[in-house]
Amino acid sequence: MSNSSLLSPAVEDLAQHVAAGLSRTPKTLSSMYFYDDAGSRLFQRIMELPEYYPTRAEFAIFQEHGAAIARALSPSAGDEFALVELGAGDGAKTKLLLKELLRSGTAFTYAPVDISAGAMTGLVEALNQELPALHVAPVVSDYATALRELRTRPGSKAVLFLGSNIGNFGPAERLDFLRKLAAPLTPADRLLIGFDLQKDPRRIRAAYDDAQGVTAAFNLNLLTRINRELGADFDLAQWQHYTDYSPLNGAVRSFLVSTRAQQVHIDALDQTIDFAAWEVIHTENSYKFTLPQLDELAAAAGLRVVATFTDPAADFADLVLATQEN
Ligand code: AVJ
Repeated sequence: MSNSSLLSPAVEDLAQHVAAGLSRTPKTLSSMYFYDDAGSRLFQRIMELPEYYPTRAEFAIFQEHGAAIARALSPSAGDEFALVELGAGDGAKTKLLLKELLRSGTAFTYAPVDISAGAMTGLVEALNQELPALHVAPVVSDYATALRELRTRPGSKAVLFLGSNIGNFGPAERLDFLRKLAAPLTPADRLLIGFDLQKDPRRIRAAYDDAQGVTAAFNLNLLTRINRELGADFDLAQWQHYTDYSPLNGAVRSFLVSTRAQQVHIDALDQTIDFAAWEVIHTENSYKFTLPQLDELAAAAGLRVVATFTDPAADFADLVLATQEN
């Protein structure tokens, strides 16, 4: 299908994904590929936008409940443990938690996992500067690899999946992912997962279609990445960012819209793709939840809700979860 002998494994993976996603109806690409170095920088800017409330809401939870969260995550015997964070990004929120754990004298290693090497280098440097006492063991990989690694990691652990990253999964994938997270847990282990909650639908939609167009640039960067890495000729002037939110299922869906009939050639696939006028590529889901749905989800994944923390406006929730045995 692709000129595989010429491509690095990472680019080969992207090539396979693009070939499969653009041959489907409707066409889809995964938001997992947003995060090249430019995409990670754009996401940093999204987190600062006035419309993008989730980061600030979760930050408020950590400010208010940091000590209680740290206690809920630490093994009771005071044993050494690993704090594994999936999709660490710049770790600004996690820093509050790390400070709490350092203050309480708990012995732990922080193992941030992120797909972006650039984001990881920045995070590790910032942590070495700001929290020199912290033991950091970074892992540059995707979630699937990180999940495999979790199974072989000795000692007890708390696994963090913050920022409503879990919202990117559809219902079936979400449950599957949680079950995979739950599988290697011992009774002493904990999960801390951040979920964006359902609220005023206009506020939700605005968070994914900001006035400055940073989210549009973030979505369109996927095409720039495919142009660069796969030798494609997407003309960015002929594409638009579009987002909708359905309060019926809590799904924000983001699309790239072809504003006219066009053909795009992708060198690495040796293929030309036809787009009709106003045809879309579905690029992201960002699900929003209700608290009762979260209790159901935990139970369905075989997990027990140890504690639920929300911000004063109830915009966001962080759940501490454990196996049902303990
Ligand atoms: C990083 C997946 C949590 O879905 O809210 C932000 C990514 N996409 N604006 C989200 C995102 C558009 C973000 N997550």
